[in-house]
Amino acid sequence: MSYRLSDSQLANHITLHQLQVFEVAARHGSYTRAAEELFLTQPTVSMQIKHLTKAIGMPLFEQVGKKLFLTQAGRDLFTTCQEIFGRISQFEMSVADMRGLKQGYLKVAVVTTAKYVIPRLLGPFCQRYPGVEISLKVTNHSGVLKRLSDNKDDLYILSQVPDDLDIKSYPFLSNPLVVLANHDHPLANEKNIPIQKLAELPFIIRESGSGTRARVQQLFNIHKVVPKVKMELSSNEAIKQAIAGGLGISILSRHTIALEGSSGQIAILDVENFPIPCHWYVIHLAGKQLSVVAQAFLEYLQTEGKQIAENTAWH
Ligand code: PGA
Repeated sequence: MSYRLSDSQLANHITLHQLQVFEVAARHGSYTRAAEELFLTQPTVSMQIKHLTKAIGMPLFEQVGKKLFLTQAGRDLFTTCQEIFGRISQFEMSVADMRGLKQGYLKVAVVTTAKYVIPRLLGPFCQRYPGVEISLKVTNHSGVLKRLSDNKDDLYILSQVPDDLDIKSYPFLSNPLVVLANHDHPLANEKNIPIQKLAELPFIIRESGSGTRARVQQLFNIHKVVPKVKMELSSNEAIKQAIAGGLGISILSRHTIALEGSSGQIAILDVENFPIPCHWYVIHLAGKQLSVVAQAFLEYLQTEGKQIAENTAWH
């Protein structure tokens, strides 16, 4: 059956932009956050949705207290929008593929530990493909998983591969977790420190949702170590500063001190059962059709990118 735009009354009265604004507002359940994501003002968002609601002739949202909920019509429209935008981005991808690697857009999300490695690897890739534009999002393990399940990016890099999602994963680099302390720490020159000793020292821990924290917790549970948590910080850099300031010890990816090495203000303690052997993986949703650019980056990461990272990690 062929379709003519004039067959649809609605298509003559609504715009793609309105649908885009609605999709973002529905996803966030908030006009304010939609305005932020789209770089619009809140009244503009509200006006676009008002026009859309009028054209459809039924309310799309209902406000209960301060919360915004989708009505049945709103939910149906949300699904429709996701189908429409999914198809448009597929089309965009196939056009980009037709142009090859001369031009394209690559979206990558990585865990905070990988930010010490990935930006460096982007240099040679961008030089080879100067027309490719890259967006790199850095967040913690649960942030990356959320982006993955929302299908926000082309590729993701993290340590613990989720087993509840249908994904494809490719081993990338080793990401050992080590015990870090101030260089002047009394244990800095000791060998084979028993893991139980860690329970006696003030400990700085990453936020919940961090993969590093989950892995540390796992090892502590096995050895029945209850750390004396002095501080919780959501940034590896802030933790390094706190260690340098003598506030305590922590367990972080060895990559976090790759640039300064262990010769700076921070030392790696020689503790039994360490380093915790972790490994980064590059993953994507199994159903995702990778663009030519994403495919090229995946191959680059597994070959040259990996080589560059291994040569510059720490020696
Ligand atoms: P994160 O990184 O602590 O920033 O969540 C963990 C990981 O390496 O997967």
